[in-house]
Amino acid sequence: MTDVQKKTYSMTVFGCQMNERDAETLRGFLAELGYEESEAAEGADLIILNTCAVRQKAEEKVLGLIGRLGRLKAKKPELKIAVCGCIVQQPEVAQKIKRKYPFVDLIFGTHNIAAFPQLLQRALESEETVLDLWEEAEGVVEGLPVARQDNIKAWVNITFGCNNFCSYCIVPYVRGRERSRKPEEILKEITLLVEQGYLEVTLLGQNVNSYGRDLPDGIGFADLLARVDRETGVKRIRFTTSHPRDFTAKLAETMARGKNICPHLHLPVQAGSNKILALMNRGYTREHYLERVKMLREYLPGCAITTDLIVGFPGETEDDFAETLDLVEQVSFDAAFTFMYSKRSGTPAADMPNQVPMEVKKERLQRLIALQNKHSLRHNEALLGSTVEVLVDGPSKTDPTVWSGKTGTNKTVNFSGEGISKGQFVPVVIT
Ligand code: SAH
Ligand code: SF4
Ligand code: F3S
Repeated sequence: MTDVQKKTYSMTVFGCQMNERDAETLRGFLAELGYEESEAAEGADLIILNTCAVRQKAEEKVLGLIGRLGRLKAKKPELKIAVCGCIVQQPEVAQKIKRKYPFVDLIFGTHNIAAFPQLLQRALESEETVLDLWEEAEGVVEGLPVARQDNIKAWVNITFGCNNFCSYCIVPYVRGRERSRKPEEILKEITLLVEQGYLEVTLLGQNVNSYGRDLPDGIGFADLLARVDRETGVKRIRFTTSHPRDFTAKLAETMARGKNICPHLHLPVQAGSNKILALMNRGYTREHYLERVKMLREYLPGCAITTDLIVGFPGETEDDFAETLDLVEQVSFDAAFTFMYSKRSGTPAADMPNQVPMEVKKERLQRLIALQNKHSLRHNEALLGSTVEVLVDGPSKTDPTVWSGKTGTNKTVNFSGEGISKGQFVPVVIT
């Protein structure tokens, strides 16, 4: 009897946790179809790129990679190449890829992941590129397979899409309108994860705070969070992302009262100047933001706060940027993701006057990072001598001789010790 060689695939995932979570659905389908994942693209029967369009750089990276895959295809004509995710949800970009890289076998968007097995089948049978994009999602599809990459931490979608249309952002165009999953589905999924041994879940949405607005029963995010905490028994609950406009006292209170809700809030502010915030269509002022931070710290003094910041938004003057620095100084974030504004065609900001030159953006970014580093260090130094509870992720990626894990406040801690294993909660003294 001869062994049937299993087909293999390699998948590269760009972008945010939404894409990571979608990739786990694709992996689930592929496992059902009898495919095995391989690390290397070379030699695989199927290569999938799950793409991100949020900044120009991310898009360029993918286009460069597709170009290089052409060489693999030339060596192995039976190789199938699929490109999916946010980049190709833009119809003109999907068409461009199809024209420029005719060796790509399958192109599909963010709304038709559920149809992946049929699409793959079509691509396997076809000589031509199969291109399938849906303009909008058909509500929320439940019951899709999932093959999670980790066995202690899991991503759980609570909403899909975004209705905010921040003027710089491509996400609402490539992820569609906001749809909430039913609370029962979310609770069922998390309960099952706990049964399977998962210790941590991160509730995912572009704006988790608007969870439930499209549901009939009047449930909001704070209610959902409290129910996950009360009813599922999961040991650590995280969520991302919170929109400052919709961050309520009720949510701060729920976090403070929660048993297993991690004391960490990711609250992207984007900019510190009211003029820029208005141009960004963010729907809040710096005063509102600072007031929410103050409120949260009153409810939950030990809560870590992290943020996202964009420098060089069109029209940002040196004075506007100084207001961003001032806000960063005032809040003293535990950590921040900092970005240079990137023009996304089709978004309102792309056509705004007074685009900021690259050199100015670079210089502002450096100043912002230097300031944030000072605050990150300050927060880390404050932990010196204290004992923190760390959930062990495994050996450190940078130094496999030590263990690595995260605190409830989402700080990475590297440490050594005897009898440690992944998935343990360990008290660690910070030195
Ligand atoms: N929904 C989340 C995250 C969206 S994308 C939120 O609202 O916070 C993650 C981050 O990418 C954003 O917070 C923003 O800081 C950044 N970003 C989005 N579009 C961008 C653009 N055109 N240029 C630079 N940064 C951008
Ligand atoms: Fe983009 Fe704004 Fe939606 Fe976040 S809230 S995904 S930044 S449009
Ligand atoms: Fe990128 Fe799409 Fe996420 S554009 S940031 S992968 S929603």
